[in-house]
Amino acid sequence: MTDTSAIAAELRRLLPRAHAPYSGVCVAAAVEGANGRVHYGVNVENAAYPQGVCAEASAIGAAITQGTSELARIYVASSLPGLVWPCGGCRQKILELALAGCEVITFAADGEVGHQTIEQLLPLGFRLQPRAGQDA
Ligand code: THU
Repeated sequence: MTDTSAIAAELRRLLPRAHAPYSGVCVAAAVEGANGRVHYGVNVENAAYPQGVCAEASAIGAAITQGTSELARIYVASSLPGLVWPCGGCRQKILELALAGCEVITFAADGEVGHQTIEQLLPLGFRLQPRAGQDA
């Protein structure tokens, strides 16, 4: 059973590691594989602004590097007040590896928690490959 509060605490611990000198917005994300492993990432901005990488993309890179390629849950926390949801590009990146019904769980500093599935966040998403366990 996933310890969601432990993941939320780890995301909060990682927020200061974000490299966000331009926006000042620190984001930490975790991706949980179907294998039960959890991989973390933070946003990494760049002086050439479009080259910045979101926390979700960092976490997905860590997951793929460690051999986790089927995602069951995504977790997000940020330094902003309120809930932060993945940007459009990250929704597409998540969809690429998501099991059907993959949950996105986002934590606000005040304790509010938001839940959506990737299908709710990216309806009619573009795919070239069937999902694991599905024909099409
Ligand atoms: N950002 C993320 O890392 N993840 C999100 O879900 C939303 C936005 C980053 C991108 C940029 O470094 C900063 O937050 C402000 O947009």
